[in-house]
Parts: sequence; structure tokens; C-alpha cells
Amino acid sequence: MPLSSHDLISIADLSDGDISSLLESAATYADVSERVIKKVPALRGRTIINLFLEPSTRTRTSFEIAGKRLSADVINLSGAGSSFKKGESLKDTAKTIEAMQVDAVVVRHWAAGAAHKLAEYIEPPVINAGDGAHEHPTQALLDALTIQNRLKKKSGLMVAVVGDILPSGVARSLIMLLGRLGAEVTAVAPPMWSPKGLEALGCSISYSLDDVLDSVDVVYLLRIQRERLSDHMFSEREYARTYCLNRERLNRAKPGCLVMHPGPMNRGIEISADVADGENSLITEQVSNGVAVRMAVFYQILGDVVS
Ligand code: CP
Repeated sequence: MPLSSHDLISIADLSDGDISSLLESAATYADVSERVIKKVPALRGRTIINLFLEPSTRTRTSFEIAGKRLSADVINLSGAGSSFKKGESLKDTAKTIEAMQVDAVVVRHWAAGAAHKLAEYIEPPVINAGDGAHEHPTQALLDALTIQNRLKKKSGLMVAVVGDILPSGVARSLIMLLGRLGAEVTAVAPPMWSPKGLEALGCSISYSLDDVLDSVDVVYLLRIQRERLSDHMFSEREYARTYCLNRERLNRAKPGCLVMHPGPMNRGIEISADVADGENSLITEQVSNGVAVRMAVFYQILGDVVS
């Protein structure tokens, strides 16, 4: 079933039906990655551009692998390796890509709203792979799939999303999606990272991780985005003292509490190394599910078009 929207820029682009069919079909695509021959012909002859103007390991690679496992031709374009580096604008870059008759563009950009702008410039579908403080919808989908696979709970799921909520597109997409799926989400952050009106996304707010630890099923640590901070605003030591999920804190959490992180991790700041690598951690499952979710997104955006 195709998605109800042409582009995937925000969780708000997805209907409830889109969300359930994406999560269901991602579970099927996860099987493809378990096979010896990890390829199906679903998108043979289709061309996808991965336009990554900001560094990325997980998202860029998993979109590339997802496209290739569906037999699409995937071309990677980075900021440093393209004419973007010579000053070419996003619009001219977009028009240049479009002129080569591509079928979809995946974009990572540091600026909130860049994915939406790109979708205005070109006709092929645009998939947002993270646009700064705005959103990272496929990250939220893979996180929801990871939780669903582990916790069969249909109601009463409680999740704490902890860290730099204000500049985090990951947090915005995740809070919206988990709320749509019926979870009770608490955004946990120091006051400087709790934006006004955050509750409108469908969460409650706490300034204390210790206060919520014993009630949540999942603690989701955000990466502290040091590249978006000025040194005088932030003390790593102080943050870690109050918000780092370490073994001592995890011992006080609800039994079986799951630990998630979108990566890349700052070990020792938002999460201790032993917790990141411990038995409660779903971090590598999140990465695996990223491929399956992105296969589902590609197929539902491109798969039903007949030439
Ligand atoms: N989670 C995530 O977006 O990681 P990358 O920056 O490595 O893609």
C-alpha cells in the first residue's frame, strides 16, 4: 500500500494506517536481511540519491543498504564530495539531481526545514533523513519497531526520552510517533533544553531522570549534540552527574527496563559504557531495524509505480 503522502518529511505526514503498514512490512523486510542472498527485485531499475550534507554513519549506510537490498541503484552524494562544497545552493543541487531523472531523494541536512524546502524544489519524493532540530522520522519508526519487537504491551507503555530535547529532531519525531502509538512519554531534560510548548507534542516534562526511572519501561538517551553547543553553556561533568544512565541508576530502574540510544553515543556523558553494552541495551537492534524500516519506506514510496 503506498504512503498517503508524496514525501516523508515528518511523522505528521503519516496516517495511522501508514504507520501500522510500515511497521508490519518492516518486520517482513527484516527477514530479507537474514538470508544468504540479501536481495529482492522490488525496486529494480529505480534510482535513489542519498544526499547527505551532514555527517552520518547509521542513517546514510542503512538507507544505502536498504535501497540495494531492494535492487534499486543508490548514489551517495556528500557535502564534502560535491559542488555543495564550492558554494552551490541546495536549490541548484536539487534541480541538478532532478534533471538526471532520479526516483527519490533522501536528504540529511543540519538546518530545520531543509527537507521540506527540497521537496518544494523537486518533483521526486523526498525522504527526510534528519533535518537538524526539526525531525528524523525514519529514526522514530525504527525505534518504535524495536520497542514493539521486544515489548508486546499494547497499552500502558511508558518511555523517558532524555537529553537535549530542544535541538533534537530525533526527540521530536519519537515523541510524536510514540504518542500516536499510545505510549506515555516523558521528556527529561535540564530546563535549558525543555522548549516552551513541548507538551503540545504529546508528552509530559521532567527535569529529573532519577524521578522517573522506576516507572518507565524504556529509557531512551539522546546523543548530546556537542557540535550545536557553545562551551560556556554546557558542562559535560555536570550533565553526566545528573543525567548519565550508569549502572547505579539502571539498578534503581524498573526491572527489565530497556535502554535505547539513536547513536552515535558519547560514552560517559549520556550513557555509561557498561550500560551501553549491557543486557538491557537495544542499541544494536535499533541499527538492524533501521535497514528494515528504510526498506519498508522505500517500497511504500516507490514500489507500486509501474513503468
Ligand atoms: N541515529 C543517527 O542519525 O545516526 P547517524 O548520524 O550516524 O546517521
